[in-house]
Amino acid sequence: MRKKMVALYHQWMVIPYMYSCLFLLSILLPECAALDTVYANQPITDGKTIVSKGKMFELGFFSPGKSKNRYLGIWYQNISVCTVVWVANRETPITDRSGMFKVSNYGNMEILNGSNTMVWSSKPMASGRSNNPMMVMMQLLDSGNLVVSERDNNRTNKNLIWQSYDHPGDTILPGMKFGKDLITGFQRFVTSWKSPDDPSIGLYSNIMDINGYPQIFGLQDQVLILRLGPWNGLSFSGFPIDKANPIYSSKFVFNEKEIYHKYELISSAVQRQRVVLTWDGRTRIFHWIERIQDWIVYGDLNVDNCDHFAVCGPYGSCSIHKHPPCTCMPGFEPRNPREWDASDWSSGCKRKTPLNCGNVNADGFRKITRVKLPDTRKSWYNVSMTLGECEMACRMKCNCTAYANLDISNGGSGCLLWFDELLDIRNYDEDHNIYIRMAASELAGHQSDSNKNESVVIWVLSFSSAAVFLCVVAYAYKKNTKRLQMKDQGDMEYALDKKNTDVQTQFLGDIPFISLYKVAKATNNFSVSNKIGEGGFGLLG
Ligand SMILES: *[C@@H]1O[C@H](CO)[C@@H](O)[C@H](O)[C@H]1NC(C)=O
Ligand SMILES: *[C@@H]1O[C@H](CO)[C@@H](O)[C@H](O)[C@H]1NC(C)=O
Ligand SMILES: *[C@@H]1O[C@H](CO)[C@@H](O)[C@H](O)[C@H]1NC(C)=O
Ligand SMILES: *[C@@H]1O[C@H](CO)[C@@H](O)[C@H](O)[C@H]1NC(C)=O
Ligand SMILES: *[C@@H]1O[C@H](CO)[C@@H](O)[C@H](O)[C@H]1NC(C)=O
Repeated sequence: MRKKMVALYHQWMVIPYMYSCLFLLSILLPECAALDTVYANQPITDGKTIVSKGKMFELGFFSPGKSKNRYLGIWYQNISVCTVVWVANRETPITDRSGMFKVSNYGNMEILNGSNTMVWSSKPMASGRSNNPMMVMMQLLDSGNLVVSERDNNRTNKNLIWQSYDHPGDTILPGMKFGKDLITGFQRFVTSWKSPDDPSIGLYSNIMDINGYPQIFGLQDQVLILRLGPWNGLSFSGFPIDKANPIYSSKFVFNEKEIYHKYELISSAVQRQRVVLTWDGRTRIFHWIERIQDWIVYGDLNVDNCDHFAVCGPYGSCSIHKHPPCTCMPGFEPRNPREWDASDWSSGCKRKTPLNCGNVNADGFRKITRVKLPDTRKSWYNVSMTLGECEMACRMKCNCTAYANLDISNGGSGCLLWFDELLDIRNYDEDHNIYIRMAASELAGHQSDSNKNESVVIWVLSFSSAAVFLCVVAYAYKKNTKRLQMKDQGDMEYALDKKNTDVQTQFLGDIPFISLYKVAKATNNFSVSNKIGEGGFGLLG
């Protein structure tokens, strides 16, 4: 608190000489800042600003932090902490206070320095150019969007020529699209500032990656360091705070024309929210709190070490509650044990038992729950397939390593298939199941996580009273063999999968397999059928 007062005091002290934002000035001289709209060729000089109608945002020249350079930017009006949300001439500052900006006859927004040299221009696309110079205008909206448009002859409709929302800097505001236009190829992404004093493009960027199923990537110097998993109908897999919160709604649009994410404020309790990629690489959601007159961090994408991209390597899973945090997924073992033991997990894990793709029925699937879904760059999807069809599709492709529902918002729908190694998995409190392809022998010998407690109990029991256990097994074996002989004359068994409500068909050709299957089932433990039942399909003839 004391620190902040000192800071404010300092700000007041330096006002006559240098100020970061003009808001203090505009409070002192409110009549100077009444306009929200300017028309073609009405230049605005350094020191004057445009203010949105509801006084939410202000546009003008400012100097960030300790810098003396002048940048044209948009900041929140009427809050006591200078907060810039957009900068026009990030790479081309003006070194003195002689700058001005205007919108040209053709709808081009331009920044000129003292010698009338253009240092920045909005470069609207040729098709967006105005042929009607008298009708061009530039308006700052209460959303923080700066819009250049032209009105038609009847002064009724406005045609959009350019808007700042299409060119994010380091900040995403409510209503802004983040993603890619598939028709024009235009990408809306964010880039960090170089430092608090320098808004030029820094080390970090966040971008929607559209290889396979879309995801959001955080890059440092073009290297992938952070990933938000695929959209699951409710949120991006692995993003901690997006679920049904009362403050903002989150929307993901994915069609033939465009792929984007956007959010909107839905509560009047929070008036100002911004998502910022900070100069040091953190992606944070900020809320303005009137009472304390300051921003608080509402959410942070980089929560812990498990959020580093692929920290545990292929088929490794990261859990922040474990020491060490990396473990191999069940059925896998460290690829390079010596490195692994030395806490170098990056080469990840390999299968204990190889897959047998030649025989469609030789592999099964292990259900894993409560994980962040793996990297989907090498994936395939279909929005209308059921989980059962999804498993079948995965079985048919030799390099398919896992499948899952695409959307979990309505009890589960759609299909997502992974090819190649599974990367960047972490334990996560999210009820999205993924089914990982395993050799059937692995499934027979191990349990999925959800059965672990049960299996521990059974193992304890089996050690403490091995005799009883053997008796049960022997009895079960006998009984089931008998029943099988009586009932399953066509060597076929039907099982109803509750999740898919599909009738599953299973051919049980050879007797030894049946026996093993029945014994396991009788002891209610490691059973192939459990896995198959969970996964949807059995073996389709
Ligand atoms: C500016 O903020 C103060 C409180 O911070 C509020 O009372 C006032 O109504 C605001 N003015 C406008 C124009 O929003
Ligand atoms: C304006 O920019 C031009 C080109 O960069 C430069 O030569 C000129 O000195 C600048 N004028 C002022 C007043 O900064
Ligand atoms: C303008 O108004 C006139 C008559 O009211 C109408 O005929 C014309 O189509 C309108 N033009 C546009 C571009 O809307
Ligand atoms: C998706 O799956 C449905 C149902 O199996 C099928 O009819 C449709 O053709 C598939 N779409 C694509 C693009 O593969
Ligand atoms: C998977 O294998 C098929 C052929 O079996 C091949 O066409 C496809 O490119 C492979 N996909 C990946 C991601 O390796």
